[in-house]
Amino acid sequence: MTRQATNKHLRKAKKSKSDEFYTQLCDIERELQYYPDSFVNKVVYCNCDDSQTSNFFRFFKDNFQKLGLRKLIASCYKKTNQDLFEVKKNVKAYYCIYEGEKIPMQVISFKGDGDFRSAECIKLLKQADVVVTNPPFSLFREFVSQIVKYNKEFLIIGNVNAITYKEIFDLIQNNKIWLGVNLGRGISGFIVPEHYEQYGTEVRINENGQKIISTNGCLWLTNLELNQRHEDIVLTKMYYGNEKDYPKYDNCNGINVNRTQDIPKDYTGLMGVPITFLHKYNPAQFEIVKFRKGDDGKDLCINGKCPYFRILVKNKYLQQQQYEKSNNISLE
Ligand SMILES: C[S@@+](CC[C@H](N)C(=O)[O-])C[C@H]1O[C@@H](n2cnc3c(N)ncnc32)[C@H](O)[C@@H]1O
Repeated sequence: MTRQATNKHLRKAKKSKSDEFYTQLCDIERELQYYPDSFVNKVVYCNCDDSQTSNFFRFFKDNFQKLGLRKLIASCYKKTNQDLFEVKKNVKAYYCIYEGEKIPMQVISFKGDGDFRSAECIKLLKQADVVVTNPPFSLFREFVSQIVKYNKEFLIIGNVNAITYKEIFDLIQNNKIWLGVNLGRGISGFIVPEHYEQYGTEVRINENGQKIISTNGCLWLTNLELNQRHEDIVLTKMYYGNEKDYPKYDNCNGINVNRTQDIPKDYTGLMGVPITFLHKYNPAQFEIVKFRKGDDGKDLCINGKCPYFRILVKNKYLQQQQYEKSNNISLE
């Protein structure tokens, strides 16, 4: 199956609300290595996770001491359909509390269905410091808005398209949330139920006999501190002298830049950059001005064509230099 077809699978998951893509331990480990100090004395809540099968729960339980965790909670939604791990239908929803190997783990049934939006789960959420999970694709907006509402730290997996949702983009623009380290092929694939159809090379069976579907359409989203996001993007290209490589938009006073590495280091005005720019975005270096639209409220276009979604950004360092120059400010 082609990558495109795999992404179609994810879109189908979103549409059908099946949401049964389970995260592999290797992908959790690959991302979590970048947050070594973020969990000290914290209560972690995996709120879309069956403690018996979730690799998030497994990761935090196995690394409880190393990360300095105070408590780990996982809650499991009661599904009405059979899925990868539950052969019985209508299994009771429950949550699990782990406080280290010296204290017996508690497993407690929910009265309700364990929906992350339910009063029972919100009560658990209120006790938590950090939410870490891969939530259902179909409820991604609601999921993020709930975490933001309750002012929680989080590290979650989402579809790349999620950054184009207005609510999510606004949070990124306002520097409230940002991308994690791994995205696209940096997330190697998800465990899917047996009944998922298997085509070609993008679906494989792993060493545990689980069906893994690869995708390049996912990313990590977080508000946990990350060193990488304070690193400048290295800019090597020049606009002046190469104007033809950076056409101006018809409906906005800005230039189009096709690749993040081609952002010119000498252009002070608006630049339309691809969405993947967000992966390298350093808020000290760039200001995110707008998403996708020109001055007329329509999609950014060049010679009448609107080929791609672009994020309009400005180079903050150049802006600052320009400001200092025009105000005769000297730093010496
Ligand atoms: C993409 S899967 C990921 C599962 C697990 N977090 C992982 O990463 O392996 C999303 C999970 O959320 C569960 N789910 C669906 N709707 C939910 C809801 N309203 N509240 C809580 N969990 C839900 C699904 O049953 C599914 O197990």
